[in-house]
Amino acid sequence: MKILAIETSCDETAMAFVECESGKIKPRFSVKAEVVASQIEVHRPFHGVVPSLAKREHIKNLPIVLDQIKKLLNFKLETSLDAIAVTVGPGLEPALWTGINFAKDLAERLNKPLMGVNHLEGHIYSNWLFGASIRFPAIVLIVSGGHTVMLRMDGMRQWEKLGETQDDAAGEAFDKAAKMLGLPYPGGPEVEKEAEKARGERAEELIPFPRPMLHSGDYNFSFSGLKTAVLYFVRDHPEASKAAVCASFQEAAIEVLVKKAMRAAEECGAESMLLCGGVAANKALRENLRLHAESKNIRFFVPDTRYNTDNAVMIAAAAYLGNQYPTDGAQGNLNI
Ligand code: KG4
Ligand code: ZN
Repeated sequence: MKILAIETSCDETAMAFVECESGKIKPRFSVKAEVVASQIEVHRPFHGVVPSLAKREHIKNLPIVLDQIKKLLNFKLETSLDAIAVTVGPGLEPALWTGINFAKDLAERLNKPLMGVNHLEGHIYSNWLFGASIRFPAIVLIVSGGHTVMLRMDGMRQWEKLGETQDDAAGEAFDKAAKMLGLPYPGGPEVEKEAEKARGERAEELIPFPRPMLHSGDYNFSFSGLKTAVLYFVRDHPEASKAAVCASFQEAAIEVLVKKAMRAAEECGAESMLLCGGVAANKALRENLRLHAESKNIRFFVPDTRYNTDNAVMIAAAAYLGNQYPTDGAQGNLNI
């Protein structure tokens, strides 16, 4: 099945042409063309994504990105396409609609079926993109700018939500901590870079930030208390090094994510641990969770770094492997 996937749920206008096929044991994906037009520079002065600007940029970029995809293909898009897939939610409503309307129009013009995809399923199925031999039950940790969700997966389209954040998403906490330290948006990669500088500093030099809900006995998360602790610390210690604050913040956030995911894995007898979403680009988080999972003989999976943050390749994978959703804006009706 050859799918043109379109993703506009936040601040990336992304499109990909992906050939999807089912191997005997695992699905296979071959990316024929992919483009991500990032709006980071547009939103940076505002330290976050401005929905009306995101909408304007998507409308401007969608036809340009489609042309780029066509140029990248060494065959004619129109004749080799089987279906068009588009993210229907969750995400920023004005941004989502630009993609949905563009996809609807294109599907009608080319007379191709249109598939509605859940953005979070996109993150989940990004783990299957490159030949992963994932075994069930699996624990899935989705950590992005908008979501922090833990799932238990018992089959390809079969899952149960174990917990989620009660306030800020993990990525949002990285972004806000970065802002407090005067680091640019998006904050996650900046905090990671600063934290790297503090590597090798002695553990006792790290600031003991709180580990919210570490012992809550459930699989929910909370990051707003951690964010506030950083705020007060920075206010009271203007001389503190950014690197030490970032390393301490990152360590606190990672400890909660890893310990709770590992507890879930052990309680569920998980065979695999899957990490995904923008924050999964964080090397310290990837390596920490990998070490813990593998020490318990649990297979660890995380997509290639560039498929952690928003992209359309993962939307094609979810269209092929995941659920189909209406494209009439029924965004509340999602399974996660
Ligand atoms: O999945 P994503 O691209 O968009 C949403 O669906 O939200 O995630 C974006 C989030 C941002 O909060 C960004 O700061 C965070 O992922 N992020 C990171 C890193 N790279 C991106 N957080 C921590 N470390 C990183 N290296
Ligand atoms: Zn995302």
